[in-house]
Amino acid sequence: HGGPELKHPSWTFDGLFGHYNEDQLKRGWEVYSNVCASCHGLEYMHYRNLKGLGYTEDEVEAIAASFEIEDGPDEWGEMFTRPATVVDPIKEPYENDALAKLANGGAVPPNLSVMTRARDHGPDYVYSLMLGYEAGVPEWVHEEDPEFSVPPGKSFNNYFPGYAISMPQQLFPGIMEYSDGTEATPEQMAKDVVTFLQWAAEPELEKRKDLGRYVLVFLIVFTGVLYAYKREIWKNAH
Ligand code: HEM
Repeated sequence: HGGPELKHPSWTFDGLFGHYNEDQLKRGWEVYSNVCASCHGLEYMHYRNLKGLGYTEDEVEAIAASFEIEDGPDEWGEMFTRPATVVDPIKEPYENDALAKLANGGAVPPNLSVMTRARDHGPDYVYSLMLGYEAGVPEWVHEEDPEFSVPPGKSFNNYFPGYAISMPQQLFPGIMEYSDGTEATPEQMAKDVVTFLQWAAEPELEKRKDLGRYVLVFLIVFTGVLYAYKREIWKNAH
């Protein structure tokens, strides 16, 4: 389209030596739980999975216990609430899609646990999307389509297909503070939350890349061995 190109920040998880940084993963979880969790769930993730971010057992227990979840029915057939434990799924914002739609002008906020894989160039796309809001409709859109306008209740976003998105802008300076003291600029929050979401979608990345490097080194060494062997066999041939 005619709008700006996708942003491409540097990701720790890119490339042959891709890895996650635990401080950044924890910040990303803080963004998710402070900002995104009121509308988006993380299907299939449980509180115990947060140990993968580098939290201790006690810290994960405390995080889980800070969420009240519904349970039941108890022996009298009543539903009740209790603090979550590490084996509970991460709390979903809405009981069902109908309620999610009602709260969001007809659009269901999608599950984020596999979002970076579900979209092309997922990490760059989600990063760009979070930072891609405009107060008005930019000129290049009207060059493509003079009739274009943003329907009521939606926002203009440079990167969303069709440009009119039911998710309002989320990342503003000062909306939250990081517990490690990092300054929570919109760019920082976007980068951290995307890194967290990439981890959620691909927690085994580091193992996969370790194996990949091992296989690569193995193949290089093995090629050398075969080459030496070939020279040995043919050394007297003319
Ligand atoms: C859609 C991320 C916070 C409501 C989305 C999409 C992503 C996303 C990646 C999918 C876009 C697509 O389909 O290509 C995030 C992140 C958040 C956040 C990372 C926190 C930093 C919120 C909040 C709300 C919300 C707090 C509710 C107030 C929605 C809705 C959609 C959506 C309704 C569907 C949009 C549509 O189909 O038009 N979000 N979101 N999001 N989000 Fe969020």
